[in-house]
Amino acid sequence: MKAVILVGGQGSRLRPLTVNRPKPLLPVGNMPFLSHVFGHLHRHGIDDIILAVQYLPDRFREFYGDGSAYGVHLTVADEPEPMGTAGAVKNVEQYLDPHETFLVFNGDILTDLNISDMVRFHKASGAALTISLTPVEDTSSYGVVEMDASGRISRFIEKPRREDAPSNLINAGTYILEPEALAMMPVAQHYMFEFGLFPALLEHGRPMYGYNPPTAAYWMDIGKPERYLDANYDLLAGKVAGLAWRPAGVARGEGVWADEGCDISSGANLEGAVVLGKRCRIEYGAKIVGPVVMGDDCTIGETAYISDAVLWDGVSVGAGATLARCAIGERASIGVRAWVEGGAVVGDHATIGAGNKLANGLRVNCDIKLPDQAITF
Ligand code: GDD
Ligand code: MG
Repeated sequence: MKAVILVGGQGSRLRPLTVNRPKPLLPVGNMPFLSHVFGHLHRHGIDDIILAVQYLPDRFREFYGDGSAYGVHLTVADEPEPMGTAGAVKNVEQYLDPHETFLVFNGDILTDLNISDMVRFHKASGAALTISLTPVEDTSSYGVVEMDASGRISRFIEKPRREDAPSNLINAGTYILEPEALAMMPVAQHYMFEFGLFPALLEHGRPMYGYNPPTAAYWMDIGKPERYLDANYDLLAGKVAGLAWRPAGVARGEGVWADEGCDISSGANLEGAVVLGKRCRIEYGAKIVGPVVMGDDCTIGETAYISDAVLWDGVSVGAGATLARCAIGERASIGVRAWVEGGAVVGDHATIGAGNKLANGLRVNCDIKLPDQAITF
């Protein structure tokens, strides 16, 4: 069975993290998000993957080549103009088998969904299209379904107002399609599953089913900074068990994992869950309280305090700085006694001068040089 992964979006809600890399390549647990997806598909016997790429296509090619290093056969298909979620699938029709059932994935969902069981459900119901579902409290940023006891969908509403949502079951962003659903999509047109194909299937009385897994799957759309951080933390906490992710390197204490070449001062204090990439240096008196993920070559200065943070490769943190619930881009540098907290995001190569205080979801663009004490509160 083949799978199409929709990786077209610009990830604008995650800027500046997505300025230099597309959302599906952001590291989650020190591994590009998409590598988790490839591993998961491979475990469910799906090795033929088509990436429908719109933004930064060459980053995918550089990173994955033909996919063989990841055990999959990968086709990176360019989409010069955004074709919409379903238009992007129609655009790669030439790579699909005209007689075969296939899968489509939104490229920003971290999930350990039992795909094999979903395929069984799809075949048994005789659906033209099956949508995976997950319950959420606030449905307002998702597509919501109404269905009967057998799972047959009677209504689909994209991002309804809270009071208009017919249920708390939302489109979890994994679809199984029969060739007839592909045939219904218009050629070379911007077309959406959410506003085009789903309503069209319902209108034509074609069976569309919702698959609500009997055992709840982990599910997170990583498309906003706070959810991106939570996805990292949940992975570290073992909440995404079905992905079989393990931190690289060796255990250096309870819940503390360090990849090769790390230099951790005996006077530093690390409390799990902490995952360090290669060659990280943690200096005397630094305190790191998980969940924390650091990429390769990070340096944490004396008495710095870090908790609830995701640091990409090559981040340097000055002495006495505090990082709490934040994401720090590649090779960014945080000055001595600076504070970065409250969902703040620092872009690649930014330099935060000494004593600055960044909070309340503040975003600092890539390459910015913030002078000492420029922002305080
Ligand atoms: N190739 C391509 N071309 N991909 C696209 C395009 C496009 O024009 N537009 C969006 N995508 C990709 C995005 O990169 C993402 O991986 C996926 O399609 C979904 O787009 P989002 O922009 O993230 O949509 P959303 O999160 O607001 O809503 C969608 O996902 C929810 C689940 O997370 C909808 O499908 C909702 O119904 C659903 O509940
Ligand atoms: Mg999304």
